[in-house]
Amino acid sequence: MITNLKIFSPATVANVSCGFDVLGFCLDGIGDIMIFEKTSEPGIKIEHIDEYGLSTDNSMNVAGITANAMLDHLRLDHGYRIIIDKKIKPGSGIGSSAASASGTAFAINHMLGNPFNKNEITKFAMKGEAFASGAEHADNLAPGIFGGFTLVKSIDPLTILELPTPKELFATIIHPQIEIKTSESRGLLPKEVPLKNAIKQWAELGSLVHALHTSNYDLIKKSLTDVIIEPYRSPLIPYFNDLKRACLDVGGLGCGISGSGPSVFALSRGEDTATTVAEAFKAVYKDAGIGYDVYISPINTHGIKILDN
Ligand code: HSE
Repeated sequence: MITNLKIFSPATVANVSCGFDVLGFCLDGIGDIMIFEKTSEPGIKIEHIDEYGLSTDNSMNVAGITANAMLDHLRLDHGYRIIIDKKIKPGSGIGSSAASASGTAFAINHMLGNPFNKNEITKFAMKGEAFASGAEHADNLAPGIFGGFTLVKSIDPLTILELPTPKELFATIIHPQIEIKTSESRGLLPKEVPLKNAIKQWAELGSLVHALHTSNYDLIKKSLTDVIIEPYRSPLIPYFNDLKRACLDVGGLGCGISGSGPSVFALSRGEDTATTVAEAFKAVYKDAGIGYDVYISPINTHGIKILDN
């Protein structure tokens, strides 16, 4: 049995404009470092070595909740020490809590000799993510666990579909330094949707899925549309419409809110365009008086990575 494991648990982009709560993709280079040590005494002990002051109480920490769900399920007589170096800022919209939950479920499963498949790992991680966001959904979890683009066909029973990643696709992320809590931004959303918007939206999602399968970049561009969620959430993100325009002006395929925001993602064909989009994003925020981080990333088709056994 593996007693020590270090992993990289990547950031993810959920919703991808057209697929609220069901679609997501995995980023590379931005993610948390998590270290797991098996302990002879039962139970979970969480330590954070980052600056975010997250609770280390197991019942208030997504890694703790996820790990305990696995321990309870398996009735294990040992425990784990989990040391988390969070690089994804909580409340950033690029799957910070999901990285803790999916990293924990993946790592404990790996240390136990892989008793669970990826679908089952995602189910355990959903317990932790539900605590953070106030609702059970897997669109931020599945991309980290499966890699690439994923579609959550159903959460009960949990059914995840892996979608292909067109080779030249790159993401640009701008993270304005404001915090938007997922639970609060979910609270802004309407409970019902006009039929004409629903028709438009499922056509866009189907169209994006087809575009991913056929590496049709022009169709990706035409499908990155959200008529249901974006109108409610975008007013929370300073200069959102300017970012969108700037992305399209320099040749990006499209731009939308990453997860529940405030991060904004863009997809581009090729790293050069993704870099140009990053510069265009910076120009929009230049005089905004708001701090921000910008990342350029290929789509991470591997998901969580083992750094050290
Ligand atoms: N689909 C989720 C949302 C992702 O947009 O609320 C954030 O957890």
